[in-house]
Amino acid sequence: MQEFVRKSVLMIKPYLPGKPIEETKRQLGLRQVIKLASNENPLGASPKALGAMKKCLSGVYRYPDAQGFYLKKRLAKYFGLSSEHFVLGNGSDELIDIVIKTFVEPDESIVTSESAFLEYEIIAQINDRKVKTAPLRYFKFDLGAILKLVDKKTKLIFIANPNNPTGTYVTKYEVSDFLNALPAHILVVFDEAYDTFIDVNDYPDSLSYLRRKKRVIILRTFSKGHGLAGLRLGYAIADPGLVSCMERVRLPFNVNILAQAAGLAALDDRDFIKRTRKIVLKGKQFIYDELSAMGIGYVPSVANFILIDAGRDSMEVFKSMLKFGVIVRDMKQYGLDNFIRLTIGTQKENTRSMRVLKKVLKEKS
Ligand SMILES: Cc1ncc(COP(=O)(O)O)c(C=O)c1O
Repeated sequence: MQEFVRKSVLMIKPYLPGKPIEETKRQLGLRQVIKLASNENPLGASPKALGAMKKCLSGVYRYPDAQGFYLKKRLAKYFGLSSEHFVLGNGSDELIDIVIKTFVEPDESIVTSESAFLEYEIIAQINDRKVKTAPLRYFKFDLGAILKLVDKKTKLIFIANPNNPTGTYVTKYEVSDFLNALPAHILVVFDEAYDTFIDVNDYPDSLSYLRRKKRVIILRTFSKGHGLAGLRLGYAIADPGLVSCMERVRLPFNVNILAQAAGLAALDDRDFIKRTRKIVLKGKQFIYDELSAMGIGYVPSVANFILIDAGRDSMEVFKSMLKFGVIVRDMKQYGLDNFIRLTIGTQKENTRSMRVLKKVLKEKS
């Protein structure tokens, strides 16, 4: 039946999501399984968001507000911008698709980095758009190498900041030089899915570029810091002139009623964000210390996950850890064959993941 399928679709290597807990329990007959494979929030969901959803459950027989009026208004207040600066998405994944569909002509191309968030390439491929990738430098986006790939046909650049799966970031100095050197016909997307966890002083204030009319689009999500990954809610922030065109591409009811209500409440849940940051930053230090004590290499991260150099085939390490009920992510699909990515969990989960990693690496050495 493949003769019916578009060639570019046949070429796609499907995105492999983190293995679900229930599936793992079923397949391996395990009772206690922890998932540290999809960079979810260790505290669960924002309690204010949960409360808001309960209140509007009975309203789900109606279509959602296609414009997301109240959520956009709340976001505008939060950022000191206008509602016209926002596009809501079914997760920021959907916004990647909307951005590509809105701005990239069939003969134009997209530039990003190797071992960047995989959806840029996959969604570009679905849309029949070409992607060029620059090599990473010390596991970081190399903005100089990206500039070298840019030509007349480049329309869009995706910068995951911080990058998933490396956890590294580009600094405000690097970004400033980069934007100054960039030709005027190119839009830059800063994907800031992990902004909640930033603990460095030289992280770029991408909103300041937007305010200065630079051609930037910022992507944010409620999946990580707000703990709402299962609801699917993200947003793009951009110049209203760009937003109005993205709105033409967006499907009318892409963000459901519960997600809109939860997003509104989650933005006000500062206590939850504070607690999330605290547990992630503390957990990160604990894992760093454990890895260092074991002599295992890792890439310092500003996100809620850590790229770990397992020093051997990552699929084997993934499978071995799975047998002990710990789901991590092997990094083969990112071309990092000896690396696993570990999400920072609760203290109990972190202790268990470190114990299991130690056991697994010792067994095989
Ligand atoms: C860098 C990056 N961007 C975007 C996303 C998509 O997030 P969502 O679609 O859940 O908003 C992810 C998810 O892991 C991510 O790591």
